[in-house]
Amino acid sequence: MDRIRIRGGNPLLGTISIGGAKNAALPLMAASLLTSQKLTLSNLPHLVDITTMVHLLAELGVAISMDGNVSNGGNFGRALTLVASEPVQKIAPYDLVRRMRASVLVLGPLLARWGQATVSLPGGCAIGTRPVDIHLGAFKALGAEIELKEGYIKAHAKKGLKGANILFPSVSVGATENVMMAATLAEGETQISNAAREPEVGDLANCLVAMGANIEGIGTDTLKVTGVSELKGANHEVIPDRIETGTYAVAAAMTGGDIIMKGTRLELLNALADVLAKAGVEIAGDGTTVRVRRVNSSLKGTDLMTEPYPGFPTDMQAQVMALLAVADGVSMITETIFENRFMHVPELCRMGADINVHGSSAIVRGVPTLSGAQLMATDLRASVSLVLAGLAANGETFVNRVYHLDRGYERVEEKLSACGAEIERISDG
Ligand code: EPZ
Repeated sequence: MDRIRIRGGNPLLGTISIGGAKNAALPLMAASLLTSQKLTLSNLPHLVDITTMVHLLAELGVAISMDGNVSNGGNFGRALTLVASEPVQKIAPYDLVRRMRASVLVLGPLLARWGQATVSLPGGCAIGTRPVDIHLGAFKALGAEIELKEGYIKAHAKKGLKGANILFPSVSVGATENVMMAATLAEGETQISNAAREPEVGDLANCLVAMGANIEGIGTDTLKVTGVSELKGANHEVIPDRIETGTYAVAAAMTGGDIIMKGTRLELLNALADVLAKAGVEIAGDGTTVRVRRVNSSLKGTDLMTEPYPGFPTDMQAQVMALLAVADGVSMITETIFENRFMHVPELCRMGADINVHGSSAIVRGVPTLSGAQLMATDLRASVSLVLAGLAANGETFVNRVYHLDRGYERVEEKLSACGAEIERISDG
């Protein structure tokens, strides 16, 4: 198992290329199932989760070709072409789904295109039980019969899906994406209320419209989808990864650095940019670049609460906690989206951080500096928060089980060492 070694204390100075958004790419790839024509996606990041989705779609019979690396302003995202011609096997097996919960996003497209789908129930994961009841409730409202058997979701819609009015009991990114995709081929009109408004949902909606779907209200919490008989192919460039952007912004802030991030956009950061500005970080955008610097000012503690977009993103909570751990003053972080997303806390405390968890809130009392330590990664965003802490700590830090990191961050040690960080990957065979 690989691990990462960091010797902290170097300010990050230089340029970092930001890749396409993992959480946009995954539903976009699933959307290929909705048409028999060619869907080409560009600016795809080189990530384990993307490869897992390639394996899953190939297992379902989708023909996939990689059109090499396509440079977009120095960023070498992959371009994939996907063709889901008839007939496609309709079982998403446990072995692939257990590796990546986003596999459940093939359920809606399979059901809409072929009227049947068998998808392994995605298990929970480190950050929570992650049920799919909201997805399944919506598919039933569209006329599907759902049976849970031997750990699988067996869905049928013999007469096809019928449009319906759907009100989500709580905001769900995946359920919004799954149901929106299914509704594009349902008969009649579907209204999805309390829909997620994350930029990745909007990116998927824009691609579906390019494929011939009829979707109104994109970017709002109420989507209106009027079903069409079939969708066509399209060419679509994946939006930049706002969480990767935010992660490197925090890295620059924690190390007192000054970096330019290319291939991304400031407007994707909104609530995060506000929190970073309150903490004393300078952040500015110019078209497709974002500059982040903190050279002389000290970091100031601030409170935050994770919320659905446009609120503060839960996927940035662990990273900003690492920053607040070395800020002046006390901060309160409240996690409202997942029930167990504080697993980075005990590891940060082993580096000398002063953090106390009370239910869904954590009180962070800033300390002057952290000290390097042997650390254990537990989930994707917790892992990267430990890397960030190591960059700012005195001494040497080892982050073990970095396979968690590789699911969502491309070449993290290369991108950081190119900006002066002393960081290397150690392969233990
Ligand atoms: C997406 O997960 C992201 N993953 C997550 O990113 C992100 O943290 C999350 O949205 C919230 O923004 C991808 O897009 C691939 P949800 P998703 O459905 O769709 C509960 C990362 O680090 N819920 O919005 O699974 C759920 O348990 C990952 O890149 C139900 O109760 O998230 C959670 O508490 C981690 N029933 C809350 O809703 C359901 O049917 C929000 O989940 C569905 C969800």
